[in-house]
Amino acid sequence: MKVENDKTSSSLDLVKGLSDSAFVVDRERNIQDFNRPFLKLNRIDPHKARGIKESFCRDHVNMEICENSCIALKCFEAGAAVRFDEVKGKTEGGETLNLIVTAVPIRNQQGEIVSVLEMHRDVTDEARIHEKYKVFLDKEKRAKEELERLVNERTKELRNTQAQLVHSEKMSSLGQMVAGIAHELNNPINFIYGNVETLKEYTQGFQDLLAGMEHLIEGNDGLKGGFDQLKEKHDINFVLGDLGKLVQSIRHGSERAAEIVQGLKTFSRLDQAQLKETDLHQDIDMTLTLLRNKYKNRIEIHREYGDLPPVVCFSGQLNQVFMNLLANAIDAIEKEGDIWVRTRVDGKSVVIETRDSGMGIPKENLSKIFDPFFTSKDVGKGTGLGLSISYSIVEKHGGKIEVESEVGKGSTFRVILPIGGPPEQKDQA
Ligand SMILES: Nc1ncnc2c1ncn2[C@@H]1O[C@H](COP(=O)(O)OP(=O)(O)OP(=O)(O)O)[C@@H](O)[C@H]1O
Ligand SMILES: [Mg+2]
Repeated sequence: MKVENDKTSSSLDLVKGLSDSAFVVDRERNIQDFNRPFLKLNRIDPHKARGIKESFCRDHVNMEICENSCIALKCFEAGAAVRFDEVKGKTEGGETLNLIVTAVPIRNQQGEIVSVLEMHRDVTDEARIHEKYKVFLDKEKRAKEELERLVNERTKELRNTQAQLVHSEKMSSLGQMVAGIAHELNNPINFIYGNVETLKEYTQGFQDLLAGMEHLIEGNDGLKGGFDQLKEKHDINFVLGDLGKLVQSIRHGSERAAEIVQGLKTFSRLDQAQLKETDLHQDIDMTLTLLRNKYKNRIEIHREYGDLPPVVCFSGQLNQVFMNLLANAIDAIEKEGDIWVRTRVDGKSVVIETRDSGMGIPKENLSKIFDPFFTSKDVGKGTGLGLSISYSIVEKHGGKIEVESEVGKGSTFRVILPIGGPPEQKDQA
């Protein structure tokens, strides 16, 4: 804005015509003109308005900014309009005002600045609304963030529950299938195992018969020659020596097969939906039998079993826990090493501890290993669900799992279970 006139009638008209508080000051900052809004903003009684002219502006205007830099002076110095936003003003009653202050030079016909028109726009209400709006926006932003956090949390929970459900559904159908196969294999294996003894007896009979025949034909060269020829043709001497070993290895093999079938049956217990008193040592042994292929000839298993009472539990589910802890321990040992399985009673609980001499778990992973899908194993090797499922199974039993580990030395997982079973379900046992 450029006002070119002398400071008489037209500047007065200009000031009077403004709706914002406005006044004109000379170089000494004495007030030359002012308008009604000026009186109103500065809470000046209109009856005392006469004394304002030619008085020092600061006697009527109270703004923080005036203490350090006078806006009118700045305008004189700049020789151009200046504007200040967010100026704090104070009324006599102590009320704080938010102002936008604009100062415009007024020039005479020679172009010299003779005075300055200063305008004060009161934006206190707008600022208040703006502040309220900001608070509201902040609140809304926080509410939105909280909502997002809750949604993420719930989604994660749902995802975990779903994953666990899918996994346990899979485990239960796998369990049924394994139980079916174990049942089918049981008969033929018993058949072999049961007949090995008879086979041994029959073999002994034939050996006795041969020895008897040899004895009988002793001295009869004709018969003996033919008999020896037959013996040689069928390599009977070797057969006789090998037969015993053969029967022994059939017995051994069928015993192993029976053990595995028993392991499968134990692992897949169809009674897993019911709480039952269980010999945990038997379960751990069966699990180790099933895992034998993964550790034989490279890992030594040390069983340091204490005197455990039968434990009330969902046996099939606990087998999943032992299976996973032991499989993890085996996986943690790259080449050769040791695994210790220790059990003991501690008050009203049993403690089952698996310790391995494997690679250990880095500190930063310790808090994550029970999270679903956390795995350090190669793609396709581990689902990362084993420990999270073990955790919820042990929790369901009213127990807990503890872990200690040192990188390069190995890990210890401790399962603590109440002997009497899950607290709230005791009466069902
Ligand atoms: N005994 C252990 N030694 C070293 N690391 C272990 C041991 N047990 C668990 N971990 C770490 O915890 C991770 C999670 O184990 P978890 O049993 O949940 O999943 P996983 O074994 O990777 O996969 P899955 O059990 O589904 O086959 C493992 O990938 C491994 O990094
Ligand atoms: Mg695992």
